[in-house]
Amino acid sequence: MVTNITGKTLDVPALPDGYQWCAWHPQYRDIHAEVKYRSFEDEIDALVFPSLSTRSGCQRLMIDICSRNGFLPETTWLIGHHKTMGFVGNHFCATIQGVVNPNGWGAIQNVGVVPEHRDHGLGKSLVMQCLNGFQQVGVNEIFLEVTSDNFRAIQLYEKLGFVKQKLIYRAESLKRV
Ligand SMILES: CC(C)(COP(=O)(O)OP(=O)(O)OC[C@H]1O[C@@H](n2cnc3c(N)ncnc32)[C@H](O)[C@@H]1OP(=O)(O)O)[C@@H](O)C(=O)NCCC(=O)NCCS
Repeated sequence: MVTNITGKTLDVPALPDGYQWCAWHPQYRDIHAEVKYRSFEDEIDALVFPSLSTRSGCQRLMIDICSRNGFLPETTWLIGHHKTMGFVGNHFCATIQGVVNPNGWGAIQNVGVVPEHRDHGLGKSLVMQCLNGFQQVGVNEIFLEVTSDNFRAIQLYEKLGFVKQKLIYRAESLKRV
């Protein structure tokens, strides 16, 4: 799915009470991986990308994302929740990362909200915050991949202005748009 944010006003919705933004710092790499794992475990996208279905796979993905030349800290965020403070990483409930590809397109990576914090608007806020980061660094054409059966995510992206661009068939015979 793709969107062009040139000249668009991107208002990031305020987070609900008890939630807070956490900007990128390298020390948060493993927390992004843990939140990614808890968000994608048993979800349809983890069938298409098996790395998303294991902790070690999510850790490798995060190492790969944040070591790329095009990694953009401005687009990479966690959301924390103060009431769920507990063991390490459990304070955080949502994650997003962004990179710019060599062709100049921004790519949103793995938007994830852990199941017990969904339907509070965090997914929408994450994507808007990430788009804001792309705009700040002058990257206006943005794409992401999502499994075509992931209706919840597709509905979220369409509400935020993304349109389907093309259908890609992967070996697992599941489709992505
Ligand atoms: C997709 C995901 C990020 C949405 O996060 P969320 O915090 O629940 O989303 P929000 O509360 O911000 O909802 C935003 C929009 O998503 C859609 N949505 C959210 N929950 C939905 C539901 N239960 N059924 C249908 N649509 C839903 C709606 O369009 C909603 O807009 P609205 O509130 O104006 O109706 C979350 O479900 C998730 O992490 N899923 C697993 C990982 C995944 O599939 N990520 C996307 C892969 S690219």
